[in-house]
Amino acid sequence: MGSRTAILGLNAYHGDSSACLLVDGELVAAAEEERFLRVKHWAGFPAEAVRWCLAEAGLEADDLDHVAINRDPSAHLMQKVLFALRRRPDVRAVADRLKNALCIGGAEQALAEALDVEPRAVRAHFHRIEHHRAHLASSFLVSPFEEAAIVSVDGFGDFVSTMWGYGQGSRISILDKVSFPHSLGLFYLAITQYLGFHRYGDEYKVMGLASYGEPTRVRDLQSVVRKLPGGRFELDLDCFLHASEGISMAWDGGAPVLGLSYSKELERRLGPARAPDEPITDEHRDLAASAQAVYEEILFHLLEQVSREVHFDRVCLSGGCAMNSVANGKITERTRFREVWVQPAAGDAGGAIGAALCIWNQGLGRPRTQPLQGAYLGPRFDDDDVGRELEELSPVLADAGCRLRRAVDDEELCRTVASKLADGAVVGWFQGRMEWGPRALGNRSILCDPRRADVRDVLNLKIKRRESFRPFAPSILREAVGEWFEKDGDAPFMAEVWPVRAERRSEIPAVTHVDGTGRLQTVSREDNPLFHRLISAFRDETGVPMVVNTSFNESEPIVCTPGQAIDCFLRTRMDLLVIGSHVVERVPEPAAALPVEPDRDRSTQRATVRGETA
Ligand SMILES: [Fe+2]
Repeated sequence: MGSRTAILGLNAYHGDSSACLLVDGELVAAAEEERFLRVKHWAGFPAEAVRWCLAEAGLEADDLDHVAINRDPSAHLMQKVLFALRRRPDVRAVADRLKNALCIGGAEQALAEALDVEPRAVRAHFHRIEHHRAHLASSFLVSPFEEAAIVSVDGFGDFVSTMWGYGQGSRISILDKVSFPHSLGLFYLAITQYLGFHRYGDEYKVMGLASYGEPTRVRDLQSVVRKLPGGRFELDLDCFLHASEGISMAWDGGAPVLGLSYSKELERRLGPARAPDEPITDEHRDLAASAQAVYEEILFHLLEQVSREVHFDRVCLSGGCAMNSVANGKITERTRFREVWVQPAAGDAGGAIGAALCIWNQGLGRPRTQPLQGAYLGPRFDDDDVGRELEELSPVLADAGCRLRRAVDDEELCRTVASKLADGAVVGWFQGRMEWGPRALGNRSILCDPRRADVRDVLNLKIKRRESFRPFAPSILREAVGEWFEKDGDAPFMAEVWPVRAERRSEIPAVTHVDGTGRLQTVSREDNPLFHRLISAFRDETGVPMVVNTSFNESEPIVCTPGQAIDCFLRTRMDLLVIGSHVVERVPEPAAALPVEPDRDRSTQRATVRGETA
């Protein structure tokens, strides 16, 4: 490919396995493997994502100059040895880690297999980037900031849970870290499991539940994780299993599985853990609120220290804990930082970008390119091809009581959809390139009217069986943010929760959480012109410059292809499906959009119970 430099970034053999491609420093493609394999949080080698990245850029295996993976089993070796000598961890935990390190070591072979070539056909240089360095790079190097404090907080990666420093231009400097076995992410995981949520990535459920409780157990939890001087913290290891027995982990294909992380001692202090099928009580809600409060206390303690060490008033946050949008939304009030940046895939998937950028900016010493504009880095589909696919499916669509048409232009499309939304329709909205990261941001989204108090029931009945305590999020025109929220600014990736203005809350009950907040996406014309146009049309119709935006899926990863979107539409009771300029409408029209009484109450109850005990 001539003089252009192609760098493949990977998050492999870990949850949210992913790949990205940098060509001359420009991020041309990025996607999580789960979207292709249709298994949430898929862990293993991201073969499908790699194949797609290369195809998207029109590259072959031998066009790759560098491959960077966001783990380095040789990092922090001395600390690992010292820990092993001191504490003699369980032999199974050591075996799990060794197996994982061997997988990472075999990435060359896995890449050749993914690309269906002989290993010698891959002439790229392979690089292993320490996990938190990749997290830090993944945030700062795509941020709009020229200089900023940088902080990475997660469970563990390469034996470290927390790392901080600063970024200037294309340089990243590390100041300090917190190593195994102390981890804020592990604290949150333990409480998540204690509360009966055992699936990988369930921490967001505790965050949602926290708003319904009172932080009455803070004192108990302050003994489980304690502040130390210098912004540091430590776990009371008696309450956890990772430092003694280890936590069993499976990362080598399929959904990641984590064993239990808390000990009997935690139950002795907090009372018996909640079983997954037990109802959720006020005690559980209070514990969730307390865990969130203690998490925030320690995070802000850390960030205050970082702001003392690094005299910038901007911070880039990354690592799994940067998905805690409730805490993120309070950073500017609770610390000296004035601006926060969190990239759309702040967790481990994002490490693929960080690893690739470490090679471009540091390894090759090249300057930074444009900051990330929007999260739209995934697969896209030709509108005429979609039309042909829908035509072929027209008998199936007709059988399902649907009619198909093509919009005249964007203006007509947005006016029509806005009017249907205002009439109560639930709309599947599939446009352009798929989002990078776990949030649907207006290209693979299900949308509805934020003024409706019954949105949760309607969405639960029609599409999602989700827990009653989980809020739905608004996508709001960037220029209207200050009129509806108590803060003003950019929050383009739904990474922060902000208070809704008290006087506005009753106008938008669907997206105002029980505590008066909303996890907003600010939508600018530059980032997503069509989505901006649609919300503008909805504002013209209703006076409300936002829509409810939830991910386009039904208990599965977010849809990637038009075929998956059509499937999801037909499986559920969505009213309208829009793919590009094509509109599939279920008839009769939205008068039937509302759940039909008398089975409404019963169904709602069933959905709620199922959700809460999932
Ligand atoms: Fe991580």
